[in-house]
Amino acid sequence: MNNEDEIKTMSSRLDNDPLYNVTSENHRLEEENSNLKRTVKFYQTELEKFRTPPYVVSEVISITADNQALVKLPNQSNFLVEISQEVTDLMPGDMVLNEQKSLIILGKVDMTKNFSVENYVVVSDKLDSSWTQIGGLTKEINKVKEVLEMPLLKPEMFREIGITPPKGVLLYGPPGTGKTMIAKALAAETNSTFIELVGSELVQKFIGEGAKLVKDLFEMARKKAPSIIFIDEIDSIASRRVELGTGGEREAQRTFMQLLGEIDGFNALDNVKIIAATNRLDTLDEAIIRPGRLERHIEVTMPDRDGRIEILEIHTKNMKTTKIDLKEIANQTENFTGAELKALTTEAGYFAIRDDRSKVSQKDFLSAIEVVVEKEEEDYQMLNHSYN
Ligand SMILES: Nc1ncnc2c1ncn2[C@@H]1O[C@H](COP(=O)(O)OP(=O)(O)OP(=O)(O)O)[C@@H](O)[C@H]1O
Ligand SMILES: [Mg+2]
Repeated sequence: MNNEDEIKTMSSRLDNDPLYNVTSENHRLEEENSNLKRTVKFYQTELEKFRTPPYVVSEVISITADNQALVKLPNQSNFLVEISQEVTDLMPGDMVLNEQKSLIILGKVDMTKNFSVENYVVVSDKLDSSWTQIGGLTKEINKVKEVLEMPLLKPEMFREIGITPPKGVLLYGPPGTGKTMIAKALAAETNSTFIELVGSELVQKFIGEGAKLVKDLFEMARKKAPSIIFIDEIDSIASRRVELGTGGEREAQRTFMQLLGEIDGFNALDNVKIIAATNRLDTLDEAIIRPGRLERHIEVTMPDRDGRIEILEIHTKNMKTTKIDLKEIANQTENFTGAELKALTTEAGYFAIRDDRSKVSQKDFLSAIEVVVEKEEEDYQMLNHSYN
């Protein structure tokens, strides 16, 4: 037997070696296991964030001999409160975080760091987005173009005709359908600064400064104009509130009022526009969606078959594939959102990489459908499990 034959026999033995296969399968499972553990950890931390109630911010007036402190809340009322063991070196004039019910002092606040609007928003001057990267939302995009893009690009037309364009729009619809993409594309297509604020972050962490942050946010937008203010999860600031019992709710209400005031305050032909997004239209306070405010409401829907084909085209454009039939994939992904279709293309790529192939095949895409469906189910179960 010559050398080459020997190597061939060896390698075919290795391929068929059950022990070798078991080892690699074992390795794969271990990897999957650690991936899953990471996912669980991620959701646990996320959940923890939701469980953390908002803190109250107050100012220390004085400290008593038995280690209590007199503090002033944003609504000007004074309270004598306990100080947590962990807080040392407290001085009159310090800003502190208080637990919402007992008002116990939990920590000091670095005012310059925490409350500057820059720490709450994401600002981008040059976004790499465009209308062409969005699939299947032609109707929605056309509305945004007419309502916001036109006035930004050709304000003189509106002045001449003598009509006032809306100051902003509300995008609503299920998660992962392209709302954030639309806001970013509008900013990019109009060369505007994109300023993103996430509503839940504003109300969740610090009570007492939300209203000021909203004020600073609009000031920043005017300075950086033309600009698009994107308020994601608007429902967390602008929900109808049944009762205004706790301090937290009253504060959130103040933030909301400030937002309404800022929207009312600026001129519709100024080149600042607002896009707000929510998954929960039903809970929104009507004040925010009245004429003169976010008066246009655009529903961003789940993609239909043609939409899914377009989205798949976009996300496979830069992939190396064999001949693929996107129609067949679209037929089998009826309840997929844009985000899930994007995930599907990534998973398909992984199948090819694992097999050490340089092109992604139709079969890879079809197998990836299963993976995405399974992942969705797992995530769903994991979330449900953690809540119970
Ligand atoms: N219509 C679409 N066309 C192309 N890609 C899409 C589309 N919709 C979603 N995607 C993909 O999914 C990702 C997430 O979409 P996006 O953040 O815009 O969803 P969203 O509607 O803002 O979701 P959420 O309500 O959870 O904030 C995008 O970055 C993109 O890759
Ligand atoms: Mg979004």
